[in-house]
Amino acid sequence: MTDFPPEITKEEMGKVSLFLSNINSTFSKERSNLIPILQEAQNRIGYLPHEAMLGIAEFLDIPDIDVYSVVTFYNQFRLNPPGKHSIRVCMGTACHVGGGTVIMDAWKRRLGIDKRQTTPDREFDLDTVACVGCCAMAPVTVIDEEVQGKISPTRVDGILLGYQIERKKESQSS
Ligand code: FES
Repeated sequence: MTDFPPEITKEEMGKVSLFLSNINSTFSKERSNLIPILQEAQNRIGYLPHEAMLGIAEFLDIPDIDVYSVVTFYNQFRLNPPGKHSIRVCMGTACHVGGGTVIMDAWKRRLGIDKRQTTPDREFDLDTVACVGCCAMAPVTVIDEEVQGKISPTRVDGILLGYQIERKKESQSS
């Protein structure tokens, strides 16, 4: 499993710098602004890179760890950039009973990441989702908004193989 988010890109670093340089025109330096500032930063950047959190802590004159604690406490905040493909494993009751945990473990093992992480090549990010209303197809994984039912660890392999083949074709044609 990877311990760190993928490295920040130049484009993201530019967004972080722009956000931090304009922060005082939108927000006052009050600690109670921490959550709104984090929400705005995530909207602008796509997630909350380390560099953004450090800059926000400096702006509010609070310890870095306080910002990090808030970001890791609330599910709405992302420490990892979005992947090209989003994998969401349903953990609603029917899917949980139907083997959702086994399916989540299969995705984690195959992708080499944990829940709420992104692969180092930024191809996939992994998370759970609440019931998506397709319980008869349990266990379900939603891939890029498309519901895939009756998922098994073997199907996880098959789906990833499909993406690998697609990538290979793309790299050969470019
Ligand atoms: S519990 Fe997974 S679709 Fe309903």
